[in-house]
Amino acid sequence: MTCFPFLFNKSSSSGRQDPEIDEGIHNVRIYTYKELRNATEDFSPVNKIGEGGFGSVYKGRLKDGKVAAIKVLSAESRQGVKEFLTEINVISEIEHENLVKLYGCCVEKNNRILVYNYLENNSLSQTLLGGGHSSIYFDWRTRCKICVGVARGLAFLHEEVRPPIVHRDIKASNILLDKDLTPKISDFGLAKLIPANMTHVSTRVAGTIGYLAPEYAIGGKLTRKADIYSFGVLLVEIVSGRCNTNSRLPIEEQFLLERTWELYERKELVGLVDMSLNGEFDAEQACKFLKIGLLCTQESPKLRPSMSSVVKMLTGKMHVDDSKITKPALISDFMDLKVGKNQESSSIDPKYSSIYHTSSSSDNHDTTMSSLTTSTLTAKYDQSM
Ligand SMILES: Nc1ncnc2c1ncn2[C@@H]1O[C@H](COP(=O)(O)OP(=O)(O)OP(=O)(O)O)[C@@H](O)[C@H]1O
Ligand SMILES: [Mg+2]
Repeated sequence: MTCFPFLFNKSSSSGRQDPEIDEGIHNVRIYTYKELRNATEDFSPVNKIGEGGFGSVYKGRLKDGKVAAIKVLSAESRQGVKEFLTEINVISEIEHENLVKLYGCCVEKNNRILVYNYLENNSLSQTLLGGGHSSIYFDWRTRCKICVGVARGLAFLHEEVRPPIVHRDIKASNILLDKDLTPKISDFGLAKLIPANMTHVSTRVAGTIGYLAPEYAIGGKLTRKADIYSFGVLLVEIVSGRCNTNSRLPIEEQFLLERTWELYERKELVGLVDMSLNGEFDAEQACKFLKIGLLCTQESPKLRPSMSSVVKMLTGKMHVDDSKITKPALISDFMDLKVGKNQESSSIDPKYSSIYHTSSSSDNHDTTMSSLTTSTLTAKYDQSM
C-alpha cells in the first residue's frame, strides 16, 4: 500500500495571514476559529461527543457540508505553532482505509484544534466493550474484520510510512467504527503533537494502563513492539468482549491477559470467547486469534511478531506457531513497590487502582503497584525494533 499525500489547497482562511502558519503549511487545510465555532454551534455541549486526555471532541458540520469530529486540545496540550504544524503535516499525508482521516486544523491564537473525518459508530470502547449500552451486535465475522483492519492500519504505520510511526496509545477508545463497522485507528501521530512533558497516558481512563507494554510503561523504551503489545491486548478484548481489567470480577479473572494465559496453559482458550456470541463463532479461528494476542504480549519484545506477520497470521497466510508462546508481560510482574494492607502512608493514586494486583494467595493482602514514572513521558523511540 502506498502513502498518498492529501491534495488539499493550501487553504481557505484568514489563518494564512500569519507568516509562521504560512511557513508551516504544506498539505494541510487550515480552518479559522470562526469556521469551527460555527460548525459546532459555539462549541455547544450538545455537540460534544467525547472527552479524552487531551481535550474535548465535538461533532460539527463544516461549511462544505462535511460532518467532522473537532478535537479541541486542552491548554496543557498546546505546543508552538511551528512544531504543531510540522507534525500535522506528517499526519495529514498519511491515508489508509483503517486510519482516521485528518481534514485539517486550526492554530489561531492559543487554539490548537484538529478536524477529523467523523465516524458514525463511535469507538470500540463505547460499543463492544461498553457494557451493553450499544445497540450494535458484533458477530464473529465483524470481529474478524475489525481485528484484521486494525492490524492492517498499524502495519501500515509501522512498516510503510517513512519514517515509521509508533502510535503509543493503541486501545479500544482509539478504534473508531464507520457506518459499515470498518475500524479506523484514531489519534496516530497525536503523541508527537503534545509537548514532551505531558503524558500521553490518560489518567482519566485507568484502562489505558492495561494496554501498556511494561518495558514502555516502566522503562520508557518505546518501539513498535510496545504498540504490538497493546494490539495484542486489544485483540484479546475483541474476541472475549471484555476490558483488559475488570475489578468487579473474581480476583482470578480480573486481569484479562493473566486469564488468557491460564486458559491457554489448560488448553481451554475457547472458554474465553465472548458468551454473547451464543456459540456462533469459528472456535478454531477464535483460539488462533487469542494465541496471536498472546504472541503479541510476550514479555520479551523481540519475541513479539511484526504487525505484517500478525496480519498474515490473522488472515491465514502464515502459520501460528503456538508451541513457543511465552508468558505475557504484565505490569503487575514488574511492580517494584510493595504496599501493605494499610495504604494510608502510600502514595498510590486511586485513579490507578484498577492496575493494582492484589495477590489472592497473600495473607496480608499485599497490593503492589507499578512504578509508572516520568520515563513514560520522555520515552525515546528506538527504531531498531
Ligand atoms: N473522528 C471521530 N469520529 C467520531 N467520534 C470521535 C472521533 N474522534 C473522537 N471521537 C469520540 O470522542 C471520544 C473522545 O476521543 P479522544 O480521542 O479525545 O479520547 P479517548 O480516545 O477516549 O481517550 P484518550 O485521550 O485517553 O486517548 C472518543 O471516544 C469518540 O467517542
Ligand atoms: Mg482517542
